[in-house]
Amino acid sequence: MDRSIADELLFEERVIRPLPQFVVEANLKPAQVAELREAATDDPLWYWEDAADELEWFRKWDTVLDEDNAPFYRWFAGARCNIVHNALERHTLTVNKNKLALIWEGEPGDTRKYTYFELNREVNRFANALRGLGVGKGDRVVIYMPPLPETVFAMLASAKIGAVHSMVFAGFSAKALRGRIADSDAKVVITADGFYRNGRVVRLKDTVDRALFDADSVESVVVVRRTGQEVDISSGRDFWYEELVRRERTQASTEVMDASDPLFVLYTAGTTGKPKGIVHAHGGYMVGVNRTFRDVFDIKPTDIFWCAADTGWITGHTAAIYGPLLAGTTAVLYEGHPNYPQPDRLWSIVERYGVSILYTPPTTIRMLMRHGTQYPESHNLTSLRLLGTVGETISPVTWDWFHKHVGGNACPVLDTWWQTETGMFMISPLPVAALKPGSVARPLPGVEAEVVDRQGQPVPPGKTGFLVITKPWPAMMVAIEDDPDAYRSYWDRVPGAYFAGDAARKDEDGYIWIQGRADDVLIIAGHRIGTAELEGAFVSHKAVVEVAIIGIADRIKGEAAKAFVVLGDDYDPTDELIEELKEHVRGELGPVAVVKAIEFRESLPKTSCGKLLRRVLKSEELGVAPEDDGDPDDCWSA
Ligand code: WT7
Repeated sequence: MDRSIADELLFEERVIRPLPQFVVEANLKPAQVAELREAATDDPLWYWEDAADELEWFRKWDTVLDEDNAPFYRWFAGARCNIVHNALERHTLTVNKNKLALIWEGEPGDTRKYTYFELNREVNRFANALRGLGVGKGDRVVIYMPPLPETVFAMLASAKIGAVHSMVFAGFSAKALRGRIADSDAKVVITADGFYRNGRVVRLKDTVDRALFDADSVESVVVVRRTGQEVDISSGRDFWYEELVRRERTQASTEVMDASDPLFVLYTAGTTGKPKGIVHAHGGYMVGVNRTFRDVFDIKPTDIFWCAADTGWITGHTAAIYGPLLAGTTAVLYEGHPNYPQPDRLWSIVERYGVSILYTPPTTIRMLMRHGTQYPESHNLTSLRLLGTVGETISPVTWDWFHKHVGGNACPVLDTWWQTETGMFMISPLPVAALKPGSVARPLPGVEAEVVDRQGQPVPPGKTGFLVITKPWPAMMVAIEDDPDAYRSYWDRVPGAYFAGDAARKDEDGYIWIQGRADDVLIIAGHRIGTAELEGAFVSHKAVVEVAIIGIADRIKGEAAKAFVVLGDDYDPTDELIEELKEHVRGELGPVAVVKAIEFRESLPKTSCGKLLRRVLKSEELGVAPEDDGDPDDCWSA
């Protein structure tokens, strides 16, 4: 990564200590944290076995960690379980039965609430309906929906019957959806007629119809009626959700899964070509998420937890749904835009439901911060006791605003580092820890991370290197859909360690400071977008001969894409063409693919073997000399 960017990220170190009252009330006291950390470092398998013992299993494991086929690690080998039993059914047999599991709010202001008992009933009806459609163990179910109650039902119903859910963010295009359907051979697609976003109705079913043109694996489409708009229903293939579940029984059997059987697939940007289908399994994922979610968020019986991220990303899986439900807490889910109808929607939701823990990406905070403090100030936010962020580095200015104007200087801000691939939180302060704004603090107990150089040797404190995870962890991905080589590549770079793809440094206290991606992936509004996928969208336009994408700074989104385009002979570099190209890329990938700037070039810088030198373009953009790293192969950054 560029030194100038790294320098910008060398934030001033400030230490903020937790308020005494908070420490008194915390589930894990500082002394216990220290003890746990030490015990977990000495014997990580003891630590994770202890975490597994907190959950219910149909059969316990023969081995905590089977390393025979490393890096294809198998956690809790021999065990049988189902995450839905732990996230839902188990709570219906305890005092949690009549506790709210889910509070949902639609963008127009409509709300729906479900207790654990009621949620279980809905999930069972949908599970039976899916079985009726012929869905069973191992079948892929694509869910193309915004955050709706039915989205939660769909995920849990699939998992309950042993099917594998594959959520596709509702902001993706028909083409992107089509690719994800084809890659996983999905049998069923679950969607809605449309949804509300920023005051408009977004059509979803039409997009599904376009995506399904000619897709032979898909046998049925289940459509949730959300907006009531007219949609085409193709008879024999499409079913209204309501009609499908109406007559179903409210009891359903739970499929007994092997701990390493797949639970879900989630596509994320890779450094090359098409997105990778990251696969997570029932056993390890539930153990890792259950322990880390409760420790990081200090869950109490009275909490109302809100993860304001879309269900279409890993944050929406782990932190919006599985984490809170495993913990038996109450989760809030919101359909719409944070600015609708005005920039106080988040604060109004916090106030109305008494949200006590709020978890959101920095990009949302930056966006709301721009509108001024009058919005958070016009609401009573005293129910909040913890704040969390994820997805990208949070600058101290944003951190301070969040801490002061949202948290009233009384709520720790937990900056959690993790990835689609890691499944669970990996590096994060615990609520009783000393905080340094801009730092993700230390690896959680049971997680071992290091900052290393190209040879895999730890770098001294203060020096930038590559972030690696040196021990397997339970919620790690178990595979990449149809691509064992892509899976292996994470473990090839530094022997025995998982290469996260991030540049980072560690300070004298062992606190980790994430400096950004070290590879060709951009973090736009907290979401990973591969330069390769964006470039592919550009070259599919007839005017484009060649293109290179780099990330440039953006005040709200953190990072944005800039394209350097070489045009064919018959095309002129006009402003109209710039607009046309931006529109084209949006059409190819969906509204997530925002291109901020396009610059036309006669040619692009390349290595002697023809590899695109994006870092040269980036240095030019920043007006600094390219870093000569003496690495002719450039295998680390290109
Ligand atoms: C990448 C993973 C895990 C949920 C959201 C994104 C970046 C993540 C932080 C953080 C700085 C962060 C990293 C990582 N990232 N959390 N707290 N501070 N950067 O999941 O789409 O899989 O992206 O997001 O670059 O590698 P994802």
